[in-house]
Amino acid sequence: MRNVVIVGAQWGDEGKGKVVDILTEKANMVVRFQGGNNAGHTLVVGGEKYALHLVPSGILHPGKSGLIAGGVVIDPEVLLEEMDELMGRGVKISPENLTISEKAHVIMPYHKALDQARESRKGADKIGTTGRGIGPAYEDKAARVGLRMGDLRNPAAFREKAAHALIEKNHLLTGLYGAPALSAEDLTAQSRLWAERLGPYLGDTRRRLHQALERDDKILFEGAQGVHLDLDHGSYPFVTSSNPVAGSVTVGAGMAPQQIGGVLALVKCYSTRVGAGPFPTELHDATGDHLRSKGAEFGTTTGRPRRCGWLDAVIVRTSVELCGVDHLAVTKLDVLAGLPELKIATHYLLGGEKIDWIPADVRDMERCQPVYESWPGFDGDLSKARKLEDLPAAARRYLDRLSELCGAPLGLVSVGPDREETIILHEYF
Ligand code: IMP
Repeated sequence: MRNVVIVGAQWGDEGKGKVVDILTEKANMVVRFQGGNNAGHTLVVGGEKYALHLVPSGILHPGKSGLIAGGVVIDPEVLLEEMDELMGRGVKISPENLTISEKAHVIMPYHKALDQARESRKGADKIGTTGRGIGPAYEDKAARVGLRMGDLRNPAAFREKAAHALIEKNHLLTGLYGAPALSAEDLTAQSRLWAERLGPYLGDTRRRLHQALERDDKILFEGAQGVHLDLDHGSYPFVTSSNPVAGSVTVGAGMAPQQIGGVLALVKCYSTRVGAGPFPTELHDATGDHLRSKGAEFGTTTGRPRRCGWLDAVIVRTSVELCGVDHLAVTKLDVLAGLPELKIATHYLLGGEKIDWIPADVRDMERCQPVYESWPGFDGDLSKARKLEDLPAAARRYLDRLSELCGAPLGLVSVGPDREETIILHEYF
């Protein structure tokens, strides 16, 4: 199998960074295909820690290339900051190893301002977005009024379009949201810099991908967020504005469904969620606090504390069905060590009826009561385990049951934050 799509099977933050890091080492190319800098992947390469938001992780390794494909929304300000920081730390970034799609949409300063103004106006009803302008940028894309990275090739036209868009956006910002207006002059100055610095990186990422597929290169598609934040399949409206399902790689990166080699789904062995929205297995007790502190459950992008709860097999099973998952990469098993009893939700009760699916209406999902199975806990230091047999028997039973309930075999189990602290059960490359 020469290419693999990595997806998060829950609500994001499943620990994709580490798994991406392990696979990146062997890949030739790493492709981001949806989302934007709402994502945050933490990787440790050569003993150095990197938090990446937009740059594909392959860039950290010499000789590999990265594509930011057309399905991604790009905040040029953030991308340049990230590139400068990486280059300052000795990472080589050039148009040789990074291509940015001309078709990717630009997150403009007014998108960020609108995202934040709307959220603060909503008060208690807010979605809890990352405030990075993701939703408003995808809205403009769908409304066919967005600016694309390729527009930077013609700076004068870019500035004209942006200034034109600003008329409507400022009207909304000042008139509806009582927020300050943005200045066309500032935008002009910023876009000049973006064009100068990012222009050389622009290209046809679909063609580059096609050539890599033809060469039978090892390609890693680095999904962001999680399946249950999917705009179409998640708990709408408490979702992101892109499609984190595996099939989205065909649209976002530009390839045929038959060309997908494999799908690896990340599953944290408990659940977390950032922002608002239904979360049937959420814990508001000492166990939830234990998971949050031992699992360091605070956002990479926003630093927000994550909501924590038991593993929900209904959620993961649905992702396995939606994405055609070949293997599960189970993360953070070590975080469960020390808990006397472990629970997995197998079904829900909705108005007295037992259901094993997710209601489309978010209000129904809010009413779902999880039906749990209990399993004995385990203790001790798991970080030295390199084979399943090295784990305590109770941990192995928990993993077996997780795989059975979620409907896919295990491909990898992570037993600690370091790259070595991993049990590899299936080699993708
Ligand atoms: P947005 O993507 O910033 O519009 O936020 C929409 C929802 O998705 C909010 O609940 C965010 O907390 C959540 N979200 C967005 N990106 C991530 C991510 O990378 N990990 C986890 N949650 C995310």
